[in-house]
Amino acid sequence: MYPEALAALRCPNSPHTALELAAGARYAPDGAVLDGMLQAADGTLRSYPIRDGIIDLLGGARLPRTPAQITNYLPLTAWGYERLWRGRALTLLTGEAFGYDRELPLLRRLMQPERGGVYLDVACSNGLYARALAAATQADLLAATPPRATIIGIDHALPMLRQARAYALQHRLRITYVRACAQALPIASAAVAGVAMGGSLNEIGDRRAFFAEARRVLEPHGRLVLMHLVQAGESIGQAVQAILGTGGIEFPSLATIHAELRQAQFHPLDETQHGVVVFSAWQPT
Ligand SMILES: C[S@@+](CC[C@H](N)C(=O)[O-])C[C@H]1O[C@@H](n2cnc3c(N)ncnc32)[C@H](O)[C@@H]1O
Repeated sequence: MYPEALAALRCPNSPHTALELAAGARYAPDGAVLDGMLQAADGTLRSYPIRDGIIDLLGGARLPRTPAQITNYLPLTAWGYERLWRGRALTLLTGEAFGYDRELPLLRRLMQPERGGVYLDVACSNGLYARALAAATQADLLAATPPRATIIGIDHALPMLRQARAYALQHRLRITYVRACAQALPIASAAVAGVAMGGSLNEIGDRRAFFAEARRVLEPHGRLVLMHLVQAGESIGQAVQAILGTGGIEFPSLATIHAELRQAQFHPLDETQHGVVVFSAWQPT
């Protein structure tokens, strides 16, 4: 955890309750808090550990619910996710050459992180989008001047977050990683300039609860940027999606996603579709 993230962080399920760093924390040379405790600033005894630089706001209480979510709790999945799958995923899913060289500029165009402020990568896995946003706004891990943007990656699977932090350090990027749930963002209201979610909308469970949380935490001109999959148009694709559906991965129609976002009080800014893959940017209405 980097101290500049603390201003935006709140107790999970209690967005009015700030968190304070307890005395006795251990710091890394880049200023990250490696080990310590965050305490609720409301006089209760609630406290949350920081271990190996990662804040754990879920403790032992929350278990993954679907087979897809359970898979992401396996250290092997966390190890292989970017090494084996992520870089090839969009090329396979869209049928077009769609490497990071195409995807990450698209993310940056939709998000516009040069605006500065706080950005979340929600259900971040290994933190690909968090790194892309940090690389666009930060000079170096040890730079004397504070970065223009504070980047926070959130996921409920600790193995994913450990790998994410290792990659961020490898790339010398200053990213705070937090174990929390997409449906109960531990973030102050109207505190963030951008919320990104890459590929996770299909498996987080209750999408409407996430959209409501994204709406709550975004500043009035903030942006929600989504990359997600929609229902396939042809029968083979639909059959594959039906099988994946039994593992907890959902493929709603684009119209369903639009309706849910409008109901959560977002309006569209931009959208591009490549086969079943959709990129879009939304703003609070
Ligand atoms: C498809 S992967 C994410 C890919 C990543 N965003 C990227 O662009 O590479 C899905 C991730 O969502 C996380 N996840 C699933 N449900 C979640 C929830 N309700 N809250 C937080 N994280 C969740 C999983 O642990 C997993 O790491």
